[in-house]
Amino acid sequence: MSSIQTLNEKFGINSAITFCEGPGGLTVAEMQSPFGSAKVAQHGGQVLEYTPTDQRPVLWLSDRAAFAPGKAIRGGIPVCWPWFGPHPEDSKLPAHGFARNALWDVISTNSDDSISITLGLKQSEQTPSAWPHSFELSIQVSLASSLEVALTARNTGALPMTCSAALHSYFAMSNISNIRITGLEGTEYRDQLDCDKIKSDKSPITFDREVDRVYHDTTGECLVEDPGWNRSIRIAKAGSRSTVVWNPWIAKAARMEDFGDEEYRAMVCVETTNADDDTITIPPGEKHTLTAIISSSSA
Ligand code: BG6
Repeated sequence: MSSIQTLNEKFGINSAITFCEGPGGLTVAEMQSPFGSAKVAQHGGQVLEYTPTDQRPVLWLSDRAAFAPGKAIRGGIPVCWPWFGPHPEDSKLPAHGFARNALWDVISTNSDDSISITLGLKQSEQTPSAWPHSFELSIQVSLASSLEVALTARNTGALPMTCSAALHSYFAMSNISNIRITGLEGTEYRDQLDCDKIKSDKSPITFDREVDRVYHDTTGECLVEDPGWNRSIRIAKAGSRSTVVWNPWIAKAARMEDFGDEEYRAMVCVETTNADDDTITIPPGEKHTLTAIISSSSA
């Protein structure tokens, strides 16, 4: 019996949750509700698609994305854990941790108030030796009038576990040059493109060049306003005091193998994170949950 058949027998819910073979042969859970649809890959525990009923897809997925074991998928909501960005001590380790490149287990599915699926990742022989902690990571993806993504890290070891993380959400845009992001005005950010200087701007964020910023002390909602498609995407959160805003623009897009040269126009990342001084130390036996709640409406 194929593992897809097994997953459908164990976790499938009528037409609400079905497991299928997705791009590159990766196993994908397709979620369907009156509110919309979503797809979650077992690879990386990664949400690949979220489309509210009668709307365009909210998430962006690159036409050049690689769908292969051990590789990060460019688009959707990659899970960056247990470190965000480069490893703090060893730059040879993969950026954004190992969770996005690993194969997660399906733990449960549910169709009570909302349709949801939970996937998990534990310490195993595949965990890089650079990460000595015993852990249990889970991601719960719930589809109702919004898409809620909750990443819980549990420290199952005997020593405190310090980790940074991101729900690295890629949003689909009509044209990056015409959008704006509100909710971060007047907030201090570390500019990763200007020697990590701490800055702040009074105005909403607009884009006419590469942007790569870690905003600090942010607990509120962000709104991505896209007049070209007459819609706004709202990103609310919990368990997070930092937010990353990223668009690679022309030169960086051209350097990335899994990113089309023109695709920078069609996306923006607003990432719900535990980064910089929002890095979390989890005592033994305890857990931390990072949640992003994503919805979209006519502007
Ligand atoms: C963002 C970082 O979160 O992710 C950027 O702030 C980085 O610096 C981007 O370029 C993409 O990272 P990666 O590893 O997926 O290419």
